[in-house]
Amino acid sequence: MQNLLLTGIAGFIGAATAEKLLEQGHHVIGVDNLNDYYPIELKEFRLNRLLKNTNFTFYRADIENETEIGEIFTRHRFQAVLNLAARAGVRGSLLKPQEYFRTNSLGLINVLEAMRKHKTGKLVLASTSSLYAGEKSPFAETQSSDTPFSPYAASKKSAETLAYTYHHLYGIDVSVLRYFTVYGPAGRPDMAPFRFIEWMLGEKPMKLFGDGNQSRDFTYIDDVVHGTILGLKDLGYEMINIGCGKNPLSINDLLHLLEKLTGKKAKVQSGPEMLADMRETRADISKAQRILGWKPEISPAEGFQQTVQWHRENRDWLPAIASASERI
Ligand SMILES: NC(=O)c1ccc[n+]([C@@H]2O[C@H](COP(=O)([O-])OP(=O)(O)OC[C@H]3O[C@@H](n4cnc5c(N)ncnc54)[C@H](O)[C@@H]3O)[C@@H](O)[C@H]2O)c1
Repeated sequence: MQNLLLTGIAGFIGAATAEKLLEQGHHVIGVDNLNDYYPIELKEFRLNRLLKNTNFTFYRADIENETEIGEIFTRHRFQAVLNLAARAGVRGSLLKPQEYFRTNSLGLINVLEAMRKHKTGKLVLASTSSLYAGEKSPFAETQSSDTPFSPYAASKKSAETLAYTYHHLYGIDVSVLRYFTVYGPAGRPDMAPFRFIEWMLGEKPMKLFGDGNQSRDFTYIDDVVHGTILGLKDLGYEMINIGCGKNPLSINDLLHLLEKLTGKKAKVQSGPEMLADMRETRADISKAQRILGWKPEISPAEGFQQTVQWHRENRDWLPAIASASERI
């Protein structure tokens, strides 16, 4: 049983990971600033589930605030930190690039400094497939990540390199996990899976960027949680892809799958392609298999069925979350 700090606890991946860690008997100390990038009701929904567990402690705190983070490290002794707090999302980063760097890079320095001072030896850092922009897929960790297409990706590149510096200087063991388009129940309302399902169930027009032939390596949340927890292993400093690794789904394929699962017809409105968007993402997951013993178990057909089911069960409040998120 370990004492673990998880930042971004009210977020999609953070909350799901914490739920599993608590189930395994660990103590989880969660930090989140509950910002309003997307509706806070969804973050509170996830948080309320965690608060039922007596091994869980929550701090509403900001990783950009060195004092707040320092105090939490003074109150608890951690065996490891999972830094999932971030400004996430490619489109949002074009509008507020400074915010992305403040949280994703400067915020991480506060976490790393607290780890150094309190001798916390292990960091799991959330990173992204967006770093492979311009590379040929399937993406392997040995490929270049030097041409990010968005401030979001650039801020994650900076986070990865900062973590390396602290590994080199102070021996902090780091697992950098490059996630590939994560989806599932209680997902992010700024991402295509959540939006598309809500638009379809609500019989609303579907706003698409580009022709729908761009494709993503959609990865189910339970598989991502499993990979994240395996990432707690001591590795030195490693970057590891956490992606489905099968044939990626195009946006048009996803629409067809969702039409089947919801029984509704998509009313597509195509808009211009986004320059910050990648054409295709697909993970080479042989490294994750080799060093973590991880491989995804859930097919898109099964994962999207579970996700649609969750949206159906929460019709009383999700449409409001979806419309409030359309501005993102
Ligand atoms: N969801 C994906 O497909 C995906 C893909 C690649 C990488 N990632 C990365 O995985 C991590 C988790 O992503 P997610 O999808 O759960 O996003 P999310 O937005 O749902 O979760 C991030 C959480 O961090 C919190 N947060 C943001 N800034 C903070 C700050 N300054 N201090 C404290 N808390 C703060 C937010 O309130 C939010 O609850 C992020 O680092 C993201 O960049 C996600």
